[in-house]
Amino acid sequence: MTEMVRNFIAGAWSDAEDGRRFESRSPADLRETVASVTLSGRSEVDRAVAGARAALPEWRLLPAPRRGELLFRTAELLLANKERLGALVTREMGKVLSEGLGDVQEAIDIAYYMAGEGRRLQGETVPSELPDKECRSVREPIGVVALVTPWNFPIAIPAWKMCAALICGNCVILKPSSETPACAAALIEILHQAGFPAGVVNLVCGPGPEAGEYLLTHPGVDAASFTGSCAAGEAVEQRLARLHRPVALEMGGKNAILVMDDADLELALEGAVWGGFGTSGQRCTAASRLVVHERVYGRFVEMLAGRASGLRRGNGLDRATDVGPLVNESQFKKVQDYIGIGQAEGAQLVTGGERVTSGALGYGFFMAPAVFSGVKRGMRIAQEEIFGPVVSVIPCSSLAEGIDIVNDSKFGLSSAIYSRDLNTTARAERELATGIVYVNASTIGAEVQLPFGGWRHSGSGHPEAGGKGGAIDFFSRMKVIYRDYSGKLQKAQIDR
Ligand code: UN1
Repeated sequence: MTEMVRNFIAGAWSDAEDGRRFESRSPADLRETVASVTLSGRSEVDRAVAGARAALPEWRLLPAPRRGELLFRTAELLLANKERLGALVTREMGKVLSEGLGDVQEAIDIAYYMAGEGRRLQGETVPSELPDKECRSVREPIGVVALVTPWNFPIAIPAWKMCAALICGNCVILKPSSETPACAAALIEILHQAGFPAGVVNLVCGPGPEAGEYLLTHPGVDAASFTGSCAAGEAVEQRLARLHRPVALEMGGKNAILVMDDADLELALEGAVWGGFGTSGQRCTAASRLVVHERVYGRFVEMLAGRASGLRRGNGLDRATDVGPLVNESQFKKVQDYIGIGQAEGAQLVTGGERVTSGALGYGFFMAPAVFSGVKRGMRIAQEEIFGPVVSVIPCSSLAEGIDIVNDSKFGLSSAIYSRDLNTTARAERELATGIVYVNASTIGAEVQLPFGGWRHSGSGHPEAGGKGGAIDFFSRMKVIYRDYSGKLQKAQIDR
């Protein structure tokens, strides 16, 4: 069944003026067209921005707990539609069904979380140095925000951004990846059903250069949030810096699991397989590097290769599948290139890397999960984000060296350590230079009640999700209010 996906602007579904459309196809089987989608250009973006601006004056004044009620309803509707949406995620971007459902669950979690934030949205009240004077800060929305989102979490990431932006009182325009417009439209439809007023939530589908860039730099947009590749994110950052427009960026990762010689190797193996090959390695939190103590290195590589080669490749809708396809041809080619690059650099390809074409899999972008051993920290396969089912295993001889290798990356999103020694893990917690650190758990699986964000080139330092320093700090701005009720001129710093 092919979905008809249209834009959602000012409370109504609409097509592009010139009637152009594009298709989204299943990466597991290119014969299946998942959606026929409105292809937007500048005039659709102009209309969406105008719709959002018109809705803003009323929306920003709706009490935040009432905005929270709409998000609570969103969460309930997402829950009621979880199976359907999870299957759509799998059809449209390929991840296995359990992960498609997990994608929706992240959206449910953030919607409930941000609904509750409507009753907090704290500022602060502090004493004044002068009598009969109050000092406090309050949060206000920024205005109209542009959200540009990737295909790898096609429900979760748009939901993270929208729920946070909406609870703060912003109006939003979502421009999803052209790989996953049907997922975005299904999410927007749920928000619509939950009762958000017309113009508060808008969807514009179309290509990045035409629709996305124009939206991000549109004069009617006040702030932007982008998740995607490093190259695209850095281009956005530079363009928006010239406009002095706040932008939150979530970009790449080259996350590592450090496996010490006293680790529970079976547990570490499970973590490495889940982190390395879950979502076919297409997560910004994927464990694409394993740094393994030399005393257990040979054994661990063997265990990992055994597990990787036994993973069942197939359509994610089949419950027996462990690893689904890569999302599209260019992603597939890029990952294939890295297999060649790793070999040319002198790493040993222990298993996988080849295209899988048996039976119906020939119609999709399937690849055998790959493990490289003998990887050196400076190699390209140890430094560059591959975004596919490829794991590079690097030896180390001590905790200090292991930590140094993990930290030797321009990225800094997540990292993990496996060890049974409390002192070892405590030192690693302190020294691993990433935004998220896992202890005896893999590099993936962040929860929404704490900030999600990377250091260095992984992000702009404005994390997603909840908790102190989370997305509410980006999507709201502080206003400081001094109220003097003394009835006379009081001079701060002078009348002392
Ligand atoms: C991403 O890969 O872009 O921690 C997000 C995790 C998920 C989110 C990943 N909760 O792996």
